[in-house]
Amino acid sequence: MSSNKRIGIFDSGIGGFSILSEIMRKVPSVEIDYISDDAFAPYGEKTDSEIIQRSELITEVLLSRGASLMVVACNSATAAAIASLRLKYPKIPFVGVEPYINVLNHSNQFPGIRKAAVITTEITGNSVKFKILRQRIDPAGRIRHVSMPNLASIVEDILESGLSQELKKKLVCELKPLKDLELSHLILGCTHYPLIAGLIEAELNLSTVSPGPFVANRVIDILSISGEKRCASFSYLSTSSMNWEKKGADYLNSLLRYSRAIGPLDKKTNRSQSNTID
Ligand code: DGL
Repeated sequence: MSSNKRIGIFDSGIGGFSILSEIMRKVPSVEIDYISDDAFAPYGEKTDSEIIQRSELITEVLLSRGASLMVVACNSATAAAIASLRLKYPKIPFVGVEPYINVLNHSNQFPGIRKAAVITTEITGNSVKFKILRQRIDPAGRIRHVSMPNLASIVEDILESGLSQELKKKLVCELKPLKDLELSHLILGCTHYPLIAGLIEAELNLSTVSPGPFVANRVIDILSISGEKRCASFSYLSTSSMNWEKKGADYLNSLLRYSRAIGPLDKKTNRSQSNTID
């Protein structure tokens, strides 16, 4: 039997892949189980109690497979459910995801930073946790916040079926409230958004800030592990099929290749072409 540590990760869909990929890149010798709650997505429009219920159910499955650390790779589930999860499973460390709004205090890490905004799902934007975070880190309200009701679903559609003209239109329309803000930086407060960071940057002419590397560092700290060997195994389950897929890594790689390939909005790529791009 393997002596590697086991991590359970979940999100409402493929958004958590933006966190998972950083963990796989940085954290040595771990086995990872990822659950994508497609049967219940999107989380952004659900109530807190619905998300708490789903998060507990998914946590049970991941713990039953031996997870010794849980990553809630979803800002919405972190905002709505992480406090309840920590109470219910006091022996398990839970790492959550929050929008990295601390950019103005660390401007040396973000060259050219002048004006920033943060975008989130509606449930994250309305949450007490997010309001407290903003008050603590940005009491003067220098960072504007905008909720994006449809962006996570648009990301799912783009990565699932390719960047069609119709999806481009939907994306441009969703990003419109940000267009004239003259931002230099946009903080991505939903784990789906980094998967189309190139498209967002090209459309709004700014740089994006994603939390993936910070979350991976936190996982390394908690597990107190070091070494060169990267992630040993990765399994994937969608709640719409309820089958664990051993080919999880292939799916992740093809999706991330496509995510990197789409870049600017006028680039002509489709889902199948992307498989040839490294
Ligand atoms: N990826 C999730 C987040 O970080 C949820 C998006 C959704 O399902 O609405 O908020």
